[in-house]
Formats: sequence, structure tokens, C-alpha cells
Amino acid sequence: MHRTEDMDELMTCRLDHHRRQVEVATVVIFGASGDLTSRKLIPALYQLYAGGQLPEDFRVIGFARRDKTDESWRAELREALDRYSRTGPVDEVLFTGFAERIHYCRGDLAETDGYTKLAGMIAAMPTPELRENRLFYLATSPSQFGIIAEQLHEANLLERGPAAGWHRLVVEKPFGRDLSSASALNQELIRHAHEQQIFRIDHYLGKETVQNILMFRFSNSIFERLWNRDAVDHVQITVSEKLGVGRRGGYYEESGALRDMVQNHLLQVLALIAMEPPVALDAEPIRDEKVKLLSAVRRLLPEQVAKQVVRGQYRAGVVAGQAIPDYRAEEKVATGSDTETFVALKLFIDNWRWAGVPFYLRTGKALAESASEVRVQFKPTPNVLFAAQCGPRLDANSLTLRLQPDEGITLHFNGKIPGVGIGLRPVRMHFSYDSEFGAYTPEAYERLLLDALSGDPTLFIRRDEVEQAWEIVDSVRAGWEGQGMADDAFYPAGSWGPECADQLLARAGHAWREPQIQR
Ligand code: BG6
Repeated sequence: MHRTEDMDELMTCRLDHHRRQVEVATVVIFGASGDLTSRKLIPALYQLYAGGQLPEDFRVIGFARRDKTDESWRAELREALDRYSRTGPVDEVLFTGFAERIHYCRGDLAETDGYTKLAGMIAAMPTPELRENRLFYLATSPSQFGIIAEQLHEANLLERGPAAGWHRLVVEKPFGRDLSSASALNQELIRHAHEQQIFRIDHYLGKETVQNILMFRFSNSIFERLWNRDAVDHVQITVSEKLGVGRRGGYYEESGALRDMVQNHLLQVLALIAMEPPVALDAEPIRDEKVKLLSAVRRLLPEQVAKQVVRGQYRAGVVAGQAIPDYRAEEKVATGSDTETFVALKLFIDNWRWAGVPFYLRTGKALAESASEVRVQFKPTPNVLFAAQCGPRLDANSLTLRLQPDEGITLHFNGKIPGVGIGLRPVRMHFSYDSEFGAYTPEAYERLLLDALSGDPTLFIRRDEVEQAWEIVDSVRAGWEGQGMADDAFYPAGSWGPECADQLLARAGHAWREPQIQR
């Protein structure tokens, strides 16, 4: 039988009843003059507005210290949209409607005056929903989160108990710099808001392909049966970036690749790849399983860190025709900096499903490609017939989930080379999002803003998840304590990281597979 579009329609399973309603609300953005606001938040809100996904009546108030009027802020946002809108030129008529819903409130984050003014602006909103439903987006430095929550509470804008309408806090990363600071931050926020009111962002969870990990795993029996220590040899998770730190040197010096990427994005992807099926597709069952998985990741003892973790730092080089300086020569970076711009880890998950299976994670700046992917490498066939003759030249099966770019899933297996004689070579079966669905894929922030506005916390990080992830990262940092960069840690920009990252896998007979980007 031929597949028709009608059949596709018939087999499409929609779970829309899981989606909650996006409600009319006022969104207040703290850090309104910042990069995140102009690059991500405003373009995402504009896109949602343009797509008719926001309620007709919504308002955005930008809160920051600089002196601006509604008009001057709107003009700035117009320029930002010209630069960062993902869907081509901004539509004048749409923008006018969007801009009418945007306001500016000048205020100092630590001083009461600004909050009094903000409260006045919210009280003057024309409908009860706009006055009572409030989403506070904290796009500031984390050191300000506590004070903002406190000031909002003092100004009666953020109620912890029952209130008319709802009050939510969306909190950007980084959430702390280690377990103790993250716990202290949680403590501070919890004084003014319940856990259910706190939405901690990890923008990777808003990516379509990352969300697909669970759908793919739990709706396809052929793969789920193989998703365990019996069939899987090892797993590789790569998140590589071509860019260096650019102008973010000041932030990056305090963070490094481990805190910037592993604590959040890579461990979240690991949790989704390896967790047990949740009992329901709801926020708490899903987050419960992620927490269980993260708690089963074996913490490293300081002496294991040297064997299981590699860090690196880029030296000058050329990436895609662009010269990148030494990391140590970047703006706001110390000349003798030991901050890692690359990290690779070998982790084990001590549970029934994964005992003994290595999970290799790596991420870095100024690498050869920008790509994020997960490769599940299956065990080889028994060492008879082809394997006995071809040895390691016979590739074992693998499944690659490309999260970005060229989003898709590829199954690698061996096929006979046509002709007389017996020759085998790896071939692939490929699914591409673009050719299958073609449609516009929403930006992570669009999805996350919609979810926060509808009160769905599934794609946000729960308190215990953050703390588990910090415990893993802290165990690595403890092993680095007092040790500078080794001589072999440096890698030229444009490469795939230091050679010792290859040795990390070679010791177990494994090798990194570099993402192959179609151009
Ligand atoms: C951010 C990090 O969280 O993620 C950045 O702070 C990094 O350093 C970025 O560049 C990567 O995100 P994406 O969506 O471009 O893969």
C-alpha cells in the first residue's frame, strides 16, 4: 500500500490536551537593556505575536536602570528585531501593534522606588488579568535574583501564598556557581515564591530536537528495546561551537566550559537520553525521572578526575576563515588564565539499565564545527564471519541524533558493496526534520515563554535537578583544585580539541565521531 497524506493524518497522534492555555498577563523583563532581551526575548515575543500565539491583550514592561521612554525603548527594540528576527524583514503593521503593548520602567534593581513605579504601572493596566497575572523574567546577573524577588515581594507584586491571578518568576542561567551557591539561591527565592512559581531556564530544553528525544525513545519499540547495557557499547554527546568567547570573556573567566555548558545543557541532554520512562507525560513524572538519573551519575573522586576528565584551552587559529586569538589574549581574560574552553568527560551511570556503559560528553569553543549531537554506539556483532576478517574496520551500528544544525536522526549500518565478491561498507538511513516537516521550527525561547505563560513547568529545571547537576560538576572541580592547565591541554582554534581528549576514548578502544555537517 502506498503512503498518502491522508494516512499520515490518520497516524498523527496529537497530545494537545496536555497543553495548557496561554493566559493574558503582564510580562516584566528585568535586565531590559541586556543582550538576552534584544537577541532572544523580544524576537521570541514578536514572533509569537506575529504567529497569533499570544493572547490579544498582553503587555511587556522592560525594567532597567538607563533613562528611556516607552518610545525610545520601542525604537531600540525595532532595531534589535531588524538584526535578530529569524523570519526576515519586520512587518510594519505588525510591529506597530506589538510596540503598543510594550512599556518601559526605569529603576534600580536594589532600590524601592523603581518597584513602586512598576507597581503603579501594573495597577494602571486596563484589565484584571493584566493587573493580576504577572510573569517576572529575571534576565540579570544571578547575584541580583535574590534582591529582585525580595523587592517584588515588598512591593506586593510577588505573593507566595494564594493571590488573585498568578505570579511567576522565570530565572535565567547560570543558576549558582556550585552546589552551595545554587542551594543558597534556591533558599533565597523560596522565601518569596513557591517552587511551582519558579521557572528555571535551560534553553536547550526548548529546542525542538531535544524535546524529540523523549518522543523518539518512548514511541519506537525497536530502539527502546536496545536502549540498555546489553546492546549499547557507549554513548557520545558532543556540543561544539566554532566561535571563541568573543566579548563574553569577563563572564566566561568566572565560568568555563564545565559550568557554562556541562552543568546545564549537556547534563540535561544526558538525562533525557538515559532516563527511565516517566509514568506520565507530565512535568513532575518527567522531572522525577531526570532527577533519578542525575543522582545515579557516579560522582568522581579527585584521583579519578585526572583519568576521566580532560580540559583544554584554545590557542590562536583559524575557524571558517576567521582568525581567532589565543583565549588568553581575548578581551577581559587574564593573561595566565586557567579557565577551560573545552572539556571532555567519561561518566558512568550506576543503575540497572546502564551499569558499565561509558557516557562520553564533550563541549568546547573555537572548535572545527558548530554542532550538537548524541551518538549511541551499539555493540559489535560476534567475532565470526565478517567481524573475524574485517576486525575493527567493520563498523558497529550506531544511531545519531543531530540536535543542531541539519536536525535529524541517522542510523548507521553495514551494507554489501554491489558486485561480485564480498565487500562491506557503512551506509546510512537518514531522517531529516527539514525534508520531512519543512515547517518553521520555533526558537527555544518562543516555546519556553509560551510554557511559562501557560504555567507548564515541564521544560524548566526543578530545584533538585539543579542541585544534582552541581554535585556532579563540583566533583570534577574538586579534582582540578590547585592544578593549572597541563601543557597538552592547549589546542589550536579550528581543531577538535586537545589530543588528550582522543586518548580518553582510545584507552577504552573508542574514538570520537566528528559530526558530519551537510553543506
Ligand atoms: C549558552 C552558553 O548557555 O549556550 C553559551 O552560555 C553558548 O556560551 C550557548 O554559546 C550555546 O547555545 P546554542 O543554542 O547556540 O547551542
